[in-house]
Amino acid sequence: MENFFISTAISYTNGPPHMGHAYEVIAADVIARFKRLEGKNVFFVTGTDEHGLKVQQKANKLNISPQALADQMSENFIKMGQALNCSNNDFIRTSEERHKKAVKEIWLRMRKKGDIYLDDYSGWYSLRDEAFYQESELTKDNLGNFLSPNNTPVEWVEEKSYFFRLSEYEDKLLNLYKENDNFLQPKSRMNEVRNFVQTGLKDISISRKGLEWGIEVPDDKDHSIYVWVDALTNYISALQWPDTKNLYNDFWPGDLHLVGKDIIRFHAVFWPAFLLSAGLEIPKQIFAHGFILNKGEKMSKSLGNIEDPMSLVKTFGVDQLRYFLMRETPFGSDGNYSDELLINRVNADLSNDLGNLSQRCLTMVKKNCNQSIPQKNELNKIDLDLLNSVDLKKSNITHLMENFQINSYISEVFELISNTNKYFSDQKPWDLKKLDENRMNTVLWVTCEMLRRVGILLQPVIPSGSSKLLDFLCIDINHRLIDFLSNDFALNPGDPIKDPEIIFPKIDLIK
Ligand code: MSP
Repeated sequence: MENFFISTAISYTNGPPHMGHAYEVIAADVIARFKRLEGKNVFFVTGTDEHGLKVQQKANKLNISPQALADQMSENFIKMGQALNCSNNDFIRTSEERHKKAVKEIWLRMRKKGDIYLDDYSGWYSLRDEAFYQESELTKDNLGNFLSPNNTPVEWVEEKSYFFRLSEYEDKLLNLYKENDNFLQPKSRMNEVRNFVQTGLKDISISRKGLEWGIEVPDDKDHSIYVWVDALTNYISALQWPDTKNLYNDFWPGDLHLVGKDIIRFHAVFWPAFLLSAGLEIPKQIFAHGFILNKGEKMSKSLGNIEDPMSLVKTFGVDQLRYFLMRETPFGSDGNYSDELLINRVNADLSNDLGNLSQRCLTMVKKNCNQSIPQKNELNKIDLDLLNSVDLKKSNITHLMENFQINSYISEVFELISNTNKYFSDQKPWDLKKLDENRMNTVLWVTCEMLRRVGILLQPVIPSGSSKLLDFLCIDINHRLIDFLSNDFALNPGDPIKDPEIIFPKIDLIK
């Protein structure tokens, strides 16, 4: 069985999870579930990034220890993942021993390579990004204060610091991008990064002096390891590295790091350089998604305009939130969230197109076919065209997901649903009941079979609703992979069906 590794970024524990975090973990879950649908052995990891000044300052403010804050917040992130029906195999916390061990080891390997040295640092630091910037990258706000490229405040820092010889990796990185043009997706992002590297890389500071809440630099307790060296290592500490026997051996180099567009540089420049220095393999691909915006502004803890994903799940339902976030915006672009947008989208697609079709068809089957899969008689061209359209679309649909075009994948599946709706209303099985019962049975069979197929394809996006649909049709749990889409596994006339229920009740616009 082919292995597939996918990760999200790990979230800071200086505040509770918000829609941006929910968006990322849902997208990763959709991809992970799709890979499993293809029969792959998937390792999907998410987690929390717990060290650093940001978390320390927040904990000081709350008068609790950074560990207590991290414990509380990581619990919230774990709960959010569960509420969103995410199928991650592990949840890594950077305060765990297994992680600290890996971070110290990667430091030692980079040091052994001769890539770490102690020097004086002076430069600009953004606490919110936990990142150092060159003056040429900064802009000014109305008051003349410098801002980072992410529009976050920066402060001047002067201290002794350990440096990483990033400048040594310029050519190696450019080579890596050349050899693998798909290393960073979408393509426009790859071009940005390539330009950044081509303009010349400076060595970077990789430690902070006097930071209490961090992993100590080996052999120098005055310094803590810079949060990004710490954080990025989560991708391999989750695989038990430096133990290379089991998970690491099976899943590294990782197939996909899914991250937001604000942290591309860390993943596409720093991380491969650290790995090369430590003599480890480079991940195969990074995908940078866009932001979920609230009235055009990035949702973030610092801006205080966050939507709580947990309360949205309670109000609208988990599949409904997943569906909206994945369907509404092309993956890679920014998207807006509002209750109205979600309600309209969910009512139109899930309640009307999919929900009504399954309810109408299965209720007829229950009443007229002895609560079992209808008898299939001779199939005419219209029936065959509809059924064959799934085969015809299959490779295109799979290809869309391979390229992370999640919203196009969904719209292709909904085109099948809409064609099935048209078929159902054109064929009028309710009229056929009196005129031609054999034909009625065939039309109901074809519709049930289409429901089975779209049910299989929708599992990654709306796992709960699609499993209900497949349960109504009594589809064996082991027959729900993409390979089972084909005619060979079509529904057997006479097999039982369960009592259908409404899967996606219409949401009232007025709450
Ligand atoms: N801790 C770092 C990541 C370290 S990865 C080795 C971090 N944490 S974060 O909590 O600020 O963000 C976690 C992820 O959520 C990032 O990929 C970030 O881009 C994403 N999002 C945060 N706000 C977002 C939106 N409003 N919309 C979509 N995703 C955004 O960065």
